[in-house]
Amino acid sequence: MRNLRVTMTDVDSVVHRFDDVEDGTSLMELGRQNGVAGILGDCGGGCACATCHVYVAQDWYGRTGEPDEIEYAMLDMVADVMGPTSRLGCQVKMRPELDGLEVTVAPAASYWPAASY
Ligand code: FES
Repeated sequence: MRNLRVTMTDVDSVVHRFDDVEDGTSLMELGRQNGVAGILGDCGGGCACATCHVYVAQDWYGRTGEPDEIEYAMLDMVADVMGPTSRLGCQVKMRPELDGLEVTVAPAASYWPAASY
């Protein structure tokens, strides 16, 4: 099996480069496993918390695809920090066509009581 590459910029602007990501790993799992600041994944990948919110680099958004209706509804809960390429990291799973993917972790939504990471 071929391992994949991801560049993830965290909320502190630290750039994390991964070059051995397994096919099927979600961006939330990758971030949590590696302590990427701003990726909390509080709901464990259930599309129910938005603490895995990332901005996909514009060039990659066509390949990751847009959020489905359920994911979009969750993103709407963090509308104040939502961007045109927003995705929930738990809903983006690595696959060969995403090799080299670049994302930036979104800041916490303003309504979150614990808005610091
Ligand atoms: S981990 Fe909760 S929405 Fe992604």
